[in-house]
Amino acid sequence: MLKVRKANLTDVPALLALINDYAARGVMLPRTEFELCENLRDFTVALETVNGEETLAGCGALHFYTMQTAEVRSLAVAENRKTAGVGKKVVQALLEEAREFKLDLVFAFTYVVGFFEKCGFEVVDRGSLPLKAWKDCVRCPKFSCCDETAMVYLLSPEAVANTQRTTINDAISLVEIRPLNPAWAVSLDEEIRMPTPLNPGRVFQQR
Ligand SMILES: CC(C)(COP(=O)(O)OP(=O)(O)OC[C@H]1O[C@@H](n2cnc3c(N)ncnc32)[C@H](O)[C@@H]1OP(=O)(O)O)[C@@H](O)C(=O)NCCC(=O)NCCS
Repeated sequence: MLKVRKANLTDVPALLALINDYAARGVMLPRTEFELCENLRDFTVALETVNGEETLAGCGALHFYTMQTAEVRSLAVAENRKTAGVGKKVVQALLEEAREFKLDLVFAFTYVVGFFEKCGFEVVDRGSLPLKAWKDCVRCPKFSCCDETAMVYLLSPEAVANTQRTTINDAISLVEIRPLNPAWAVSLDEEIRMPTPLNPGRVFQQR
């Protein structure tokens, strides 16, 4: 019996093992313990009870970017639980969460296009996604030779309706992905300087 729920801190060791095992094979980005704890509330887990003990069968995260958009990331299913519907259930739970948060668009960068198509995502031009969506790419080993496919799931009724008349790339343009006020946006090249014990005078600055 599969149980899907939001992650909690006791899941961290199993999550790190699952994600970083795939990361070592180059199919996912690695996550540190610090990063995972920092973003734990993004995560949904799928658990299975084997011999009375709950084990992690899969996981995925919904990471917000703007008031309308989020990314599905860190999606992984344990090697011995693949092709049993676990991944799809995790994605469905993340899409449900996206609806609860009234998002318009969920995107993913992936090598498993067929899987995401089965979950209702469509392939789009990378350029149609907001620049912020690329912030994780900066530390990816494949930064200069990325071969992942950008895919999108539209939740906004207007954008979905528009796909009847135009391409998905054009439909995305209906989703408002700009920040409310440019002054509140931290650009990709902006350094966020936090005070540190060694350098207490350095503070966060916005242009
Ligand atoms: C990709 C992954 C999450 C899929 O999870 P899964 O539990 O095996 O997938 P499911 O059993 O839920 O499959 C759902 C559907 O997608 C299909 N599917 C699964 N993996 C697929 C693949 N690699 N290519 C094409 N279709 C695939 C299934 O056949 C199924 O189709 P159906 O609904 O017609 O039966 C899993 O293989 C995995 O963890 N891969 C390694 C990590 C990874 O690549 N993560 C994605 C990062 S973006």
